[in-house]
Amino acid sequence: MVKVGIVALGKYLPPKKMTNFDLEKIVDTSDEWIMARTGIKERRISALEEKTSDIAVKAALDALRNSSLKAEDIEAIFVATVTPDSNFPSVACLVQKAIGAKKAFAYDISAACSGFLYAMTTAKQFIATGMVKNALVIAADRFTTIIDWKDRNTCVLFGDGGGACVLAPVKEGGILSDYLISDGECASLMGVVPDKVRTPFDPSVDAAKLPYVVMNGQELFKKAVPGMAEAVDIAAEKAGIPLDQIKCVVPHQANDRIIASVAKRAGIDKEKFFINIDKYGNISAASVVVALCEAVETGRIKKGDRVGLVVFGAGLVAAANIVEWSY
Ligand code: ACO
Repeated sequence: MVKVGIVALGKYLPPKKMTNFDLEKIVDTSDEWIMARTGIKERRISALEEKTSDIAVKAALDALRNSSLKAEDIEAIFVATVTPDSNFPSVACLVQKAIGAKKAFAYDISAACSGFLYAMTTAKQFIATGMVKNALVIAADRFTTIIDWKDRNTCVLFGDGGGACVLAPVKEGGILSDYLISDGECASLMGVVPDKVRTPFDPSVDAAKLPYVVMNGQELFKKAVPGMAEAVDIAAEKAGIPLDQIKCVVPHQANDRIIASVAKRAGIDKEKFFINIDKYGNISAASVVVALCEAVETGRIKKGDRVGLVVFGAGLVAAANIVEWSY
């Protein structure tokens, strides 16, 4: 098996910011409540005409700029998203066209907030087995388009954005272990569930009334903490790396209190967790890769460091990887 590593990272966050104070004008909430319960100060909102594929393309081009590869060299493209431009064609194919990655095969992966690690782990197998030489892995979502802006339980939590990485063979380090786990028994805890199946043959269905995210926040919180703590623990064991040798943990950014509880439960100092939830809120699959990108940019992660990536999302889906940083 070929050793595979992340060789470049990129990100794109729409410039428009929405602060907690802006939200106070829309729903019955307060900056104090949102900060205390979630750690979020502001989030980014994509422009009306901006599509998920536009966000994905910008993140992908940023990752390619940071790599030694050109779009024409890319052999596979995976996009993790739950807010595709349309049911099909896939966002991955739209990205392929936009960047001119003519050699690549491309498809989307749906695993909500865990999508980036599900996509990265999938891409890694193709490279490890020699089927492709490299892959572009992208996470992009416009969660703010599927949120009910009258529901204070959900609208304060999410934002839009995208992140990307280039995966390729590495001589040293790379992705040391993978762990993916799903629990469809808890699928009802969060999702975009239409009341009725939308069909043109049912005149009682108002096609203009789009379904929004419904979420049981408290139950998800209770599942997320043991789910993430266990995932990082198992991934570390699979990599043969004791948890105390992990320099930095980059978690999914859903709630600062979830991260604090995961740190406590896993027995890892919270100071080791990279947190940027205050700036972006929960950007779904893109959260972990945008945070990883910023952890590297700010020097929190350096060559040779052992890094834990851990995510949790609706499905339920959880994942963790241990990575030895290659550059
Ligand atoms: N502003 C003010 N008050 C609020 C708000 C708000 N935005 N939202 C809820 N409240 C109120 C509630 O109505 C409730 O009031 P009550 O006691 O009078 O009934 C009170 O605050 C407490 O509500 P809880 O739901 O108990 O608050 P909690 O501390 O659990 O925090 C939260 C809610 C932030 C949603 C938390 O449960 C959480 O983060 N859960 C995980 C959610 C998550 O991670 N979702 C993403 C999953 S990943 C993916 O795949 C997308």
